[in-house]
Amino acid sequence: MARLQLPYLPPSSITSESVWQSRRQCLAQLGFGALGLTASKYLGAAEQVAATEVALTDKTSLFQAPRNVRYSVDDTLTSFEDISSYNNFYEFGTGKGDPARYAPAMKTRPWTVSIEGEVMRPRTFDIDDLLKLAPLEERVYRLRCVEAWSMVIPWSGYPLAKLLAQVQPTNNARYVEFVTALEPEVMPGVHTRILDWPYVEALRIDEAVHPLTLLVFGVYGKPLPNANGAPLRIAVPWKYGFKSAKSIVRIRLLEKQPLTSWTKAASREYGFYANVNPDVPHPRWSQATERIIGSGLFARRVPTRMYNGYGDQVASLYSGMDLSRYY
Ligand code: MTE
Repeated sequence: MARLQLPYLPPSSITSESVWQSRRQCLAQLGFGALGLTASKYLGAAEQVAATEVALTDKTSLFQAPRNVRYSVDDTLTSFEDISSYNNFYEFGTGKGDPARYAPAMKTRPWTVSIEGEVMRPRTFDIDDLLKLAPLEERVYRLRCVEAWSMVIPWSGYPLAKLLAQVQPTNNARYVEFVTALEPEVMPGVHTRILDWPYVEALRIDEAVHPLTLLVFGVYGKPLPNANGAPLRIAVPWKYGFKSAKSIVRIRLLEKQPLTSWTKAASREYGFYANVNPDVPHPRWSQATERIIGSGLFARRVPTRMYNGYGDQVASLYSGMDLSRYY
């Protein structure tokens, strides 16, 4: 597998990030969302240019979002081919190629996501409404799997906090649980008992509303391939990859910490927090280094960093916790 460095041009490289952001903000302040274009005749000349750009973006691809450099890393991108063909999505099988082979049979329209539990306004969202809830942005995140391999992925999405704000969590909401699709007709893996299906993951609420926690709809400026968790998943870059649930259908806000699929299957091996930590080995292997996917036949290994390199942004969430313990 070769590492791809083909010309991938995010819109931010055509129009500068600040110009893009200020134009978008301007439209948003005026109350015109990305699709409120019929109102463009009321805008001044500069705004009309901006409106045209947004219109073009929406027509060509909603997913080609401007890159948010504040939350992106500079590391070499993993190729789209590797990102979409080397996957963990056990519903479709345990082989790395199984999701790319079987997941295309999963229908991602119609698709709804219900949000329930400790919220003032429980709601069911249609996927196409969710896509328009906030402007998508591109973020280049590291992904570190608990199996000690890693990738660097340009996701498109918006902070999960924006969705949670819509349903108004109550004061009792301390955890956010993600329940994912269970479709036995198209998912050969769920006929095995590796996990108790559906796949369930969860975060503490302060982790869920952290600005780094992204609700993801696309990758490389395109809709998510099914193998990567279409039509929507989360990306929590400072945690082992299994926390980033794919193909979400239900989000529940809870008072008590829920039991997640991997913790249920093997609590000694997969803790609830699962923050990337090179100093705490998995019971069966070291977490000190990681293999970079796509770095050739003799894949390069590099040292793993605490919180996957996001410590400056997230370490404060865990002050007081004994990090040498396995959580
Ligand atoms: N989500 C579901 N529904 N099912 C899964 O098996 N695997 C997890 C996570 N989310 C998984 C899942 C694991 S172990 C990893 S490493 C990441 O998805 C992999 O994401 P990727 O295949 O898009 O790289």
